[in-house]
Amino acid sequence: MTNRLEGKIAIITGGGAMGGAQASIFAAEGAAVCVADVNGGAAKIVSDRITAAGGKGLPFELDVRSAEGWAAAVNATEKAFDNVTILCNNAGANFRVGFDEQTEEQWHTIMEIGLTGAFLGIKAVVPSMRRAGGGVILNMGSLASIRPGGGSPAYAAQKMGMVGLTRAAAVSYAKDGIRSVIISPGHVDTPFIRGNNPHSPNTWETSIDNPENYERRRNSTPLGRLQTPEDIAHAFMFAATDDAAMITGSMITVDGGSAL
Ligand SMILES: NC(=O)c1ccc[n+]([C@@H]2O[C@H](COP(=O)([O-])OP(=O)(O)OC[C@H]3O[C@@H](n4cnc5c(N)ncnc54)[C@H](O)[C@@H]3O)[C@@H](O)[C@H]2O)c1
Repeated sequence: MTNRLEGKIAIITGGGAMGGAQASIFAAEGAAVCVADVNGGAAKIVSDRITAAGGKGLPFELDVRSAEGWAAAVNATEKAFDNVTILCNNAGANFRVGFDEQTEEQWHTIMEIGLTGAFLGIKAVVPSMRRAGGGVILNMGSLASIRPGGGSPAYAAQKMGMVGLTRAAAVSYAKDGIRSVIISPGHVDTPFIRGNNPHSPNTWETSIDNPENYERRRNSTPLGRLQTPEDIAHAFMFAATDDAAMITGSMITVDGGSAL
């Protein structure tokens, strides 16, 4: 490792899942990381792994839908380390049904965790980033940020909404030295498309435990394999460094060509 994030301080939501790879890679590159997740146990496992490897980790149980929760997370991070300079908005939800089947409750859950959560996160960290003299906001997109298709309408709106949120933050905060980038994966092998949890339920039809579904996703990826959380984390890493100093408001796709 080359200490490319030495002195940086990150809050990473969804840190107990795909964001855990970002947390580990950022910490190995010298960043101090608040691993935030509504699943406090999962956040602690990732944070403990960072600490055991000699890095700086802080687990934090955070429901991204709560402005008070965000204020407490920023406060705890500043107390443990210093002003926040990187925010990774990963937390997301999906209910994989079409327009006719999607309920208002599902709509609200998807929008509130994915979009409102990211909005609140940006509002909570920007004052800290200003005190630090700048920062980087990294938002999690999706293929649905490019071509939403006919699946879950709330997921389409949430992930398209992330494009707008990323650009709005880029324009609003450029004067403060704060950049904002959206990173859009294709199919990443995580519980989001494999397991069956309350924020992202899967059936045999939608889970990649089903070999047919796995192959369908693999065959739609020109580079021939699903992505790993590390594939995605490396792009977050690049976007967080000064190598990306003039990149803002942009989307980086990490999808093996799936969106082409
Ligand atoms: N896995 C994929 O194929 C894929 C592809 C493209 C984009 N994404 C996006 O990546 C992001 C992360 O996905 P993942 O694969 O890690 O999903 P996951 O379902 O495996 O994990 C989601 C994480 O978010 C946490 N979370 C859920 N609700 C929360 C809340 N209210 N507050 C805080 N944390 C909460 C969960 O506890 C979990 O740790 C999501 O935004 C998802 O839309 C995933």
